[in-house]
Amino acid sequence: MTATSKSGATQAVDVVIMAAGKGTRMKSKLPKVLHRLAGRALLQHVVDTAAALSARRVVVITGHGAIEVEAALAHSTGAGAGFDMKFVRQEPQLGTGHAVQQAVPALPDDGVVVVLSGDVPLTRPETLAQLIAASGGDKLALLTIDFADPAGYGRIVRQGPRPAAGADVRPVLSIVEHKDASAEQRAITEVYSGIMAVPVARLKPWLARLDNKNAQGEYYLTDVVKFAVADGVGVVAHKIDDALQVAGINSPVQLAQLERAYQLQQANVLMEQGVRLADPARFDLRGELECAQDVEIDVNCVFEGQVSLGEGVKIGANCVIANASIGAGTVIHPYTHIEGGKLGAKDQVEIGAGALIGPFARLRPGARLGEQVHIGNFVEVKNATLAAGAKANHLAYLGDSSVGERVNFGAGSITANYDGANKHKTVIEADVHIGSNCVLVAPVTIGQGGTVGGGSTVTKDTAPGALTVARAKQVSIANWKRPQKK
Ligand code: UD1
Ligand code: CA
Repeated sequence: MTATSKSGATQAVDVVIMAAGKGTRMKSKLPKVLHRLAGRALLQHVVDTAAALSARRVVVITGHGAIEVEAALAHSTGAGAGFDMKFVRQEPQLGTGHAVQQAVPALPDDGVVVVLSGDVPLTRPETLAQLIAASGGDKLALLTIDFADPAGYGRIVRQGPRPAAGADVRPVLSIVEHKDASAEQRAITEVYSGIMAVPVARLKPWLARLDNKNAQGEYYLTDVVKFAVADGVGVVAHKIDDALQVAGINSPVQLAQLERAYQLQQANVLMEQGVRLADPARFDLRGELECAQDVEIDVNCVFEGQVSLGEGVKIGANCVIANASIGAGTVIHPYTHIEGGKLGAKDQVEIGAGALIGPFARLRPGARLGEQVHIGNFVEVKNATLAAGAKANHLAYLGDSSVGERVNFGAGSITANYDGANKHKTVIEADVHIGSNCVLVAPVTIGQGGTVGGGSTVTKDTAPGALTVARAKQVSIANWKRPQKK
């Protein structure tokens, strides 16, 4: 987006994301901003927010774990990202003001910059757009919120006494950090969220004036407020009510709390659309879920990547479903694991309408099942196409295979697709019946309408309509005497 100033001129939006801090309280080797919320790194959420704002440039300030953080984000950069991303190192970390100072060379003078933190993942782009609008291209706009317990936060100090009622329109004078605040200032409940929007041309000279003469010996970004006031530049506080949007993560407890809150939000959105969740508190979406009408999802299901569920789909309890498209009326019974590949549609799992899957089924990348296919318990399917009406109901493996319409693949049968070096394909044509406990040694084709007797190991192609039995002939010796112990 662009910011429009009073004069009507528009300015590009650039974003600075502070992500150099250590995150000691996570007690983890992984840099804090790479911990995941709803399946995405905290910092990725923030970068995605910047993308949603149509930022021109995103400058990420890294420090602790910089190499790992930069590598994790590398895929967000480049032409496809829609913005230009730069990493700037802050070593050592001398405070938030010092962090933003490092970004100065990467910030063009003509833009409005939004300062975000890599550990505050759930700020909405609309909120930032409002903040940018509040800055109007010439003011310093601060995102603020009232907290009943403001301990630890920078307080918004305004001129004069707080009005008893109505909007607080008193001019903002400064932000005072908790550790530097007087008892009177600590009673202020309006706090700085850590997010501001400001014209870069204004910000740069203020950053140059920062010092570290304060209780923490740090260069505070928040000191720019008093410089703005001294310079006669307007300071506006844009106050919001939604604490989730400014919630930062410092510990595993906070991470889990924010995860639950976010999951509940996502669950509510789906239920508003008509999706019936057995229990929104036992629902996890780590990606995108698209649901047609009358979808029912039982407890403890996890959805990852991109999943779409057709009309009337029912998902049983305890399923994990990643990157799959599931056709109308299909029932996924409990404890089914569907694991489509992430890369492109090719490896997505596809299930046609009216299929029955599970319980305890496993569908791996490239499983493509037609209408009315039945996959039962302890059946694994990988890179295999099953045409309409095919069934593998018990204890089976179908890998690198093409299975025709109405095929019945017996209990305990498998495709031996791997010879120890290469994978080979098995073709089972329409209306074939494979008995129990068969091994189809690929490459091999079972001709249309054929039957393979139970216990067969099939190594050669079979003709359409043939009965194939490939096992030792049964031998019975009458009145056989077992050896006796001497
Ligand atoms: C900051 C604000 C405070 C606000 C609070 C909201 C300052 C001085 N104070 O305090 O007013 O209420 O956020 O959460 O800005 N970081 C760096 N380099 C550094 C220091 C920090 O990149 O040298 C990063 C951190 O990794 C983090 C963010 O900046 O992502 C904020 O730092 P943090 O230490 O959490 O700031 P607070 O002291 O909480
Ligand atoms: Ca913080």
